[in-house]
Amino acid sequence: MDLKVEFETHFGMAHTRWATHGIPNAVNSHPQRSDKGNEFVVIHNGIITNYKDLRKFLESKGYEFESETDTETIAKLIKYVFDNRETEDITFSTLVERVIQQLEGAFALVFKSIRYPGEAVATRRGSPLLIGVRSKYKLSTEQVPILYRTRTIENVKNICKTRMKRLDSSTCLHAVGDKAVEFFFASDASAIIEHTNRVIFLEDDDIAAVADGKLSIHRIQRSASDDPSRAIQTLQMELQQIMKGNFSAFMQKEIFEQPESVFNTMRGRVNFESNTVLLGGLKDHLKEIRRCRRLIVIGCGTSYHAAVATRQVLEELTELPVMVELASDFLDRNTPVFRDDVCFFISQSGETADTLLALRYCKDRRALTVGVTNTVGSSISRETDCGVHINAGPEIGVASTKVEGTACSPSGRAWAGGPEARVPGYPPSSGVDAAGSRSVHGLELIKEVLSLDEQIHDLALELYTQRSLLVMGRGYNYATCLEGALKIKEITYMHSEGILAGELKHGPLALIDKQMPVIMVIMKDPCFAKCQNALQQVTARQGRPIVLCSQDDTESSKFAYRAISLPRTVDCLQGVLSVIPLQLLSFHLAVLRGYDVDFPRNLAKSVTVE
Ligand code: F6R
Repeated sequence: MDLKVEFETHFGMAHTRWATHGIPNAVNSHPQRSDKGNEFVVIHNGIITNYKDLRKFLESKGYEFESETDTETIAKLIKYVFDNRETEDITFSTLVERVIQQLEGAFALVFKSIRYPGEAVATRRGSPLLIGVRSKYKLSTEQVPILYRTRTIENVKNICKTRMKRLDSSTCLHAVGDKAVEFFFASDASAIIEHTNRVIFLEDDDIAAVADGKLSIHRIQRSASDDPSRAIQTLQMELQQIMKGNFSAFMQKEIFEQPESVFNTMRGRVNFESNTVLLGGLKDHLKEIRRCRRLIVIGCGTSYHAAVATRQVLEELTELPVMVELASDFLDRNTPVFRDDVCFFISQSGETADTLLALRYCKDRRALTVGVTNTVGSSISRETDCGVHINAGPEIGVASTKVEGTACSPSGRAWAGGPEARVPGYPPSSGVDAAGSRSVHGLELIKEVLSLDEQIHDLALELYTQRSLLVMGRGYNYATCLEGALKIKEITYMHSEGILAGELKHGPLALIDKQMPVIMVIMKDPCFAKCQNALQQVTARQGRPIVLCSQDDTESSKFAYRAISLPRTVDCLQGVLSVIPLQLLSFHLAVLRGYDVDFPRNLAKSVTVE
């Protein structure tokens, strides 16, 4: 969802809505309004959890609601605050300040009002919000100072007056000499990058006001840890990175970008001479990380699968207990967390509400928190004690592909090994052939797997009318199965399950017959013999397994209904390769079934609501 505001003498407001309340229709879409005369309008990304109480209160005061949204309460509430103002010269941002004190939940908001022509006010809590700045002219400052106020009602009149006086060039951002400047409010940098790469990231409860082309940032109260200003930052993102180029979908482009994204994440971190990985972002916390008693890795969806993919190598590298947790479940259980735990938060967007809440939960318990995110300036990257930037480049397709692959790459996998880690199997041991040694660079192997695209397309032609698809494997490849199944269900709307092959006889075997398509990931790793066993059990029940296997594996292909041979690399990195055919398969299945792969129904790229 993106909020976008643009003004100097012009102002525009747009919103792509992901429905949390009410069906997607015109009356539930944003902006929501305070009344039929549009006195106040607001766009919102997030969810207001106390909206029912607010709505009841406002209805009791005579305000009539027209939509089913939680957002409409915000529009009505600001009008209520305005209607009950104690002074005529109350500022727009004071109204917003008062409104957000009543709100619970997560929000990024942009307000506009006919009562305050030439002004717009934006604020956030829990949902991301940034301000893009564009001007051909020199700006008054690169650091916008925060303006604080006390909030006693008795002082309001005085405060309003002082506020007006304080909004001079030393407290606002504007173009020198009253020249033109544009401000863009957006939830995500990709929404504005075609206009500017200069942005200010807002913190929770910041209130940003633009009046007469000048931007000021306010907060109600100052706390000791507050940064007294917000700096303009320059993003490295290029417009071309968020264009489809010759591909038919962003997801397809992003799958094919994996050689570069893996390379980018390794750049400056992997030393191929000494076979070590150095993660600068963790350097200063080396002592604490080494002292810790337990590692907890937390994420949602695909990021959780990246955590599962990493667990075994983490255990091998650190010899510590490693817990891998789905953020929502971790919170539901009030999981015990201690000061000597190190908690990792994996998130492509860096804004996922469940992961962010889990982060705050761990911070409250004084654990060391480490972010592994793909978004500079995101809430998770800012709120963690230290972190690793995945550096996979922007990912636009809702279904995450290249970031998962990259998070599992050598440097990705080393993040929890500590700032300086050796990836097991580096250099590849004798069990791995010349192809294995190429895995140090990995890129050739990724390209080789991508070249199987046509073969995967043919497989998709056979499978696209099926209702269900099972994906089975174990060991390092269990995460591949979970991730493959998630990709299939989220963009093809087929039922799909990732099954641990070791669990086959404990239930899922009942699903196997000659109708049920089963994809089995069988690699030449320590689980090979056990996977052969599972393969036999499937064929014994007339199942027709489609096997993803190593190129040198003649055994599995004998029993396979179809076999797709993959190049081999060290065990802990094999998943980076074996997930690609499943990403490609889900893409082709979705296209053949006639769905928009980049915008799967009911899903959003950044899930900023719980
Ligand atoms: C699946 C997918 C989601 C996200 C999940 C977490 O393709 O995109 O499952 O992985 O919503 O998102 P991030 O990684 O942004 O925290």
